[in-house]
Formats: sequence, C-alpha cells, structure tokens
Amino acid sequence: MTLVIAIDGPAAAGKGTLARRLALALGLAYLDTGLLYRVVGRRVLDAGAAPSDPAAAETAAHALVVTDLARTDLRGPEADQASSLVAKVPGVRAALLAFQRGFASKGAVLDGRDIGTVVVPNATVKLFVTADLSARARRRWLELQGRGIAASLAQVEAELQARDARDAAREAAPLRAAADAVVLDTTTLDADAAFARGLEIVQSRVGFA
Ligand code: DC
Repeated sequence: MTLVIAIDGPAAAGKGTLARRLALALGLAYLDTGLLYRVVGRRVLDAGAAPSDPAAAETAAHALVVTDLARTDLRGPEADQASSLVAKVPGVRAALLAFQRGFASKGAVLDGRDIGTVVVPNATVKLFVTADLSARARRRWLELQGRGIAASLAQVEAELQARDARDAAREAAPLRAAADAVVLDTTTLDADAAFARGLEIVQSRVGFA
C-alpha cells in the first residue's frame, strides 16, 4: 500500500514540524507545499510585479523549478504575505497540482492547506492540525526572534489572522478540514506531544505499529 499522509491547517499550528517527524519515523518523503507558493510569491516580487496580479503570479508558477525550493528568502513577513496572495489565483494552484500529486504518488507526507481536500483526496490518513490564534502567534513570534527578525507579538498575531482569513475565504481550494480528517489541536501540546499523538492517529488508521 502507498502510504500518503495529508496534513492541513492554519499557519504556525505545528504542521511542518509534525510532518517532518512523521516522515522521518515512517521512512517517507516530505513535501512542504507552502514552499511552492512562497517561491511563486518571491518570483513575482523578483519580477517587480504585485503578488495580487493574477497574470504575473501564473507566469511565476509556470517558471518554478525544484531548485527554487532551496532559496533562503522564502520565510518572513514579506514572503508570508506574497505566498498567500498568489495562492488565491486558480491558475497558480492548477500549475502546482501535478508536481504535488507526482510527489505523493510514491508515498509521502505533504503539508499545506488543501492536501486532504484537493491534492490527495484519497490520502491514507488526513490530519487537520490547528491551535488557538494566540498560541500560534506566540510560536511564530519566538521563531522570528530566533532568526533576528524584530516584530511585536501583536503585529505577528494580526498578520497570522489576516493570512488565515484570506486562505480560508478564497474560492480556489480554501483552507478547511476534509470531512474525513482527524483534528489535532496543538494549543497545549509541545512538539514531542504533538508527534506522539500524530503517530498514534496514523497507526490507528493504518493498523500497524
Ligand atoms: O504553509 P505556509 O505558511 O508556508 O504557506 C504559505 C502560504 O501558501 C499560505 O498562506 C497559503 C498558501 N498555501 C496554499 O494555499 N496551499 C497549500 N497547500 C500550502 C500553502
């Protein structure tokens, strides 16, 4: 059986850490699909265009090459905002779909916003990882501090809230839990506890230890 684990949820809920650890534990490849949208946003900015310009965003999505994923400028407030804006464009999402499905076809863990709903609707296990806005904002703020990026906690929280609202309200593949996803709330869980719970859910669904 090809094991595919789909992990969706809002920003800074702990999806990436959980996905990476599950992939390592289960011997699966891991794809952070948010990086694809981040690259597209960056490419639009590089071209001197606005991330809200659908034509520029679609052109950038078609120009994406896998080595772009190693760019070092894909994190931070500017990339956050640009990625969420280009992600609204249906042509961008369509351009990135085949790559994501190809990656999943060999067995993988993928995290994003529409993995269980659109990218791999027949995934073996679907997790919707979430946490209270204040907990997510605090985690992201600490992460930014660790990287030497100055921002107030209130500003980080406002930006997260705006991005989630945009990701959830868009017409094309909005952020939402698949009907058959298991919700994992990490508000009071550290990374180890979230991993233990995530692995438990996977094992109970797949039926192996
Ligand atoms: O996971 P992330 O925060 O790195 O994602 C950045 C943005 O990319 C997010 O705000 C919305 C978009 N995205 C998406 O629309 N669909 C995905 N599967 C992954 C990310």
